[in-house]
Order: sequence, then structure tokens, then C-alpha cells
Amino acid sequence: MTENRQLIEEIKRLKEQQDAVIVAHTYQNGEVQAIADMVGDSFALSKYCANLTCSTIVFCGVGFMAESAKILSPEKRVLLPEQSAGCPMADMITAEELREFRAQHPDAAVVTYINSSSTVKAESDVIVTSSNALKVVKNMPEKKILFCPDQNLGSYIAAQCPEKEFVLWQGYCPTHHAMQGQIAKAMKEKYPEAELLVHPECKPEVTAYADYIGSTQGIIDYARNSEKKEFIIGTEMGTLYPLSQENPDKIFHLMDPELVCTNMKLTTLESIRRSLETGTYEMQVPEEVAAGARKSLTRMLELASR
Ligand code: 13P
Ligand code: SF4
Repeated sequence: MTENRQLIEEIKRLKEQQDAVIVAHTYQNGEVQAIADMVGDSFALSKYCANLTCSTIVFCGVGFMAESAKILSPEKRVLLPEQSAGCPMADMITAEELREFRAQHPDAAVVTYINSSSTVKAESDVIVTSSNALKVVKNMPEKKILFCPDQNLGSYIAAQCPEKEFVLWQGYCPTHHAMQGQIAKAMKEKYPEAELLVHPECKPEVTAYADYIGSTQGIIDYARNSEKKEFIIGTEMGTLYPLSQENPDKIFHLMDPELVCTNMKLTTLESIRRSLETGTYEMQVPEEVAAGARKSLTRMLELASR
């Protein structure tokens, strides 16, 4: 504990010295979320980072998130404390595969989940996050949509847009996709008073049992505003930290103990201190790629604000 206090003091001192802001995704370890200046889902963090005036952003999350912050704020130094914190879903489609996919459907618009590489973003027409995907897609004039890489978010959005035609890339999040409908059902039977809140990266057999489906921020907002006192959470376990902090009078059960993203859990207080001290690992996105990706991300911000 004393060791942690010392580390936290050092992080605060380095942060001031470097004119840095620390942001953390809700899947980060609780101790990381506790020292962050801003905690949120991928959309909230993208918007927040795009408007910051500091010179350095320490992004506690995974690579594609820090990359997006760099693309939206090219003049800033963006640090990812753990270089190997990646997202397996983001690696499930390459720019070349996306070009081929588009060539097979030349009349369609490419909608890409933010959980993707910057080269894939640069090949896309617009980016979405789980909290704005429905609004962005509804606001697009195009009738045919190629959605990548997440098949589950894609089918969840497609079900709510019967006026459009969707072709889905078959990527998935290994953590959420592994969840099973029978577990969701069993948890609802075990806690009959509880509401089940799940992320749209879960399969339809899981979301079928949900009382609410939404991004991590959506889940947090829903639990805050609900009159219910008990919830089953169908997303990564880190989300239990802000939920419990904000709602000490409510009970939260993780739907399945396997809801852990090991990449998100790599970042520690020690790695944040090292990151600030040594300037590692600085995100670099070649400007020719960043320019294309920025266009798709900016279109997201614009369509999501209508
Ligand atoms: P959010 O859009 O809820 O931040 O989710 C990001 C993510 O990686 C989910 O697995
Ligand atoms: Fe990627 Fe899944 Fe981890 Fe989110 S939870 S960062 S989609 S692997």
C-alpha cells in the first residue's frame, strides 16, 4: 500500500513535469482507473483526447485506442505504457483483406469498428464505436454496408436497421465471443431480481437474454439510472470498478469469471510511471495512413453528433 502511495506520488509529479494527462479505458485494472484523469469507453476517450490541450497523453488501454488518439491529435505525444497491449479482434482484418472485401461489393460503404488498425481505418468510409454505431449507421445515406471486423456488433446493428443491407466480416473479440447463452440464462435464474447488462460484442445467443445491450459507458449509465439494485454484468470485469465506485448501494455480479481481457490488464501503476519517465511507448502513425484514418474518425465524430 505504502509502495503504491509512493508510486502514485511519483506519477503525479512526472505528470505535471511532462504536461501529461492520463486516460484509462473502463477495462483497466482498478488502481489504474483510480489515478486516471478520465475514464471512459472508446468513444468517450476519443472525444476527450481530441479536445485536450496538454502536450502528452498517457493512454491506458490497448494499441488501437492510443493510435486513434494520436491520429486525432497528431501534434501531441501519445504514450501506450505497455507496448504489447494489443487487441486480437483488431488483427482479424488487414488493409489488403478489406480492399478485397470492398472490391467484391463496390456499391457498399465500409463501416469499421474502432477496434481496428490505422491502415484498416484509412481504407474505411467511417469508423464506429459500440456506443455510437447505431446512430452513425442510421445517419449514413448509403443503403449497403460492409461492416468489419466484429460480426457480433455488426449483427446487433443490422437487426436494428432493416432498411439497410449488411455484409459482415467474421471477426470477434475472443473474450466476449466466448460467452455462452446457457451461462446468461443460468445467471438470470440464479439472480432473478437482477438485470442483465451486456456488451454487443457478445453473441446473439447471449444478448437474447439481456435487459440492456450497450457499450461499457452505456452499461454504466444504465446501472446508475435504473431503479433496480442488482445487476449481472456481461462485459469485461474492469467495468465492475466504476460500477461499484459509483453505486455503493447496488450489487454487481460478473456474468462469467472468464470475462477478462488479458491485454487490458497488462498496464500497471509501475508501467505508467516508467512510461512517463522514459517516454515509452510513443505511438507513431505515418502521416499518409493517419490522414485517411483521420478522415474516417472525423466522419464518425460528425455523424455521431447529429
Ligand atoms: P467500448 O466501445 O465499450 O469501449 O468497448 C471497447 C472494447 O474493446 C470492447 O471489447
Ligand atoms: Fe479487444 Fe476484446 Fe480486449 Fe476489447 S475486450 S480490447 S475487443 S480483445
